[in-house]
Amino acid sequence: MLDDTPKPLVRVRDLKMHFPIHAGLLRRRVGEVKAVDGVSFDVMEGETLGLVGESGCGKSTCGRAVLRLYDITAGEISIDGREIGTMSQTKLRPIRPTMQMVFQDPQASLNPRMTVEAIIREPLDEHTSLSMAEKTAKVAELMDAVGLNRKFAKRYPHAFSGGQRQRIGIARALALNPKFIVCDEPIAALDVSIQAQVVNLLEDLQEQFGLTYLFISHDLSMVRHIATRVAVMYLGKIVELAPREALYRDPLHPYTKALLSAVPEPDPALARTSGRIILQGDVPSPSNPPKGCNFCTRCPAVMDLCKEIEPDYRQVQPGRFVACHLYNETTTTADQTAGTGA
Ligand SMILES: Nc1ncnc2c1ncn2[C@@H]1O[C@H](COP(=O)(O)OP(=O)(O)O)[C@@H](O)[C@H]1O
Ligand SMILES: [Mg+2]
Repeated sequence: MLDDTPKPLVRVRDLKMHFPIHAGLLRRRVGEVKAVDGVSFDVMEGETLGLVGESGCGKSTCGRAVLRLYDITAGEISIDGREIGTMSQTKLRPIRPTMQMVFQDPQASLNPRMTVEAIIREPLDEHTSLSMAEKTAKVAELMDAVGLNRKFAKRYPHAFSGGQRQRIGIARALALNPKFIVCDEPIAALDVSIQAQVVNLLEDLQEQFGLTYLFISHDLSMVRHIATRVAVMYLGKIVELAPREALYRDPLHPYTKALLSAVPEPDPALARTSGRIILQGDVPSPSNPPKGCNFCTRCPAVMDLCKEIEPDYRQVQPGRFVACHLYNETTTTADQTAGTGA
């Protein structure tokens, strides 16, 4: 019999990424930016986990930290059962092909002096012992897979449109047959008219190659379209994680409610009657987060407790995780770790 219970491919526990702040003549360390400050989640095999939140809340840092593009401050990261959180970069090298990244800005992430062929081939040069002929054949296959004309292999990135450049970036990310891809706002820099094409391409490739995505975006409507489950970040922490439908139908965390109230609801039957929630004040600095809950300075439902004690991130319904004191009474403490979805 087929076992279709979702298995975690990526497991992240209490991940922290703090950047030091230096000042003065002696460049003394005067503080730190807590860009990611204790996040836990799983990414199930074959799923797309959406990671949403406003600009600056730590999404990119989280994605990059999970791929170990940084030496992380604390926490555990495992991929395919292997713990990589504290592994040295040398030891990581043979694991790198498994996990790749598609960047927001294809313009900035492609070397303008290299031909498309050389760009897509580079990971093959670095990580495989294929012959030149085999690599050329593989590059052509990859160009087919992402919908780029093979004839253009000798051209340089500047000769392509934004959407085509993103396809080059995607082909390059696919070159080593990865299992896990972090897509960091892959369409945010593209013209609206071609965003859907690139999203559809990513979905097709996921299906074709059995890929697992962490899909980062500030655009909740887009994430609703593509994600299996969605995690909402605020000021370095995940405040809520839930299956897509549940999150959009019935957001639990006051921050998620506020975010969603600003998104137009396409289905009139579901259109919210409560109207838009306008949050007061600004997002605090990640170098000086508030005491208690990170959201307490702006939360419409704030209680005294929230200004003193940080709420635990816990499962409050099957597959639904939230960090908020409002939900503490209903909580069973059985599973405080990031779970598997119902
Ligand atoms: N390399 C870095 N050094 C210092 N601070 C950084 C660095 N990268 C990101 N930050 C800070 O971390 C916070 C989160 O940034 P980022 O992860 O880019 O957020 P997002 O992708 O959600 O917009 C921001 O305050 C940003 O200024
Ligand atoms: Mg970002």
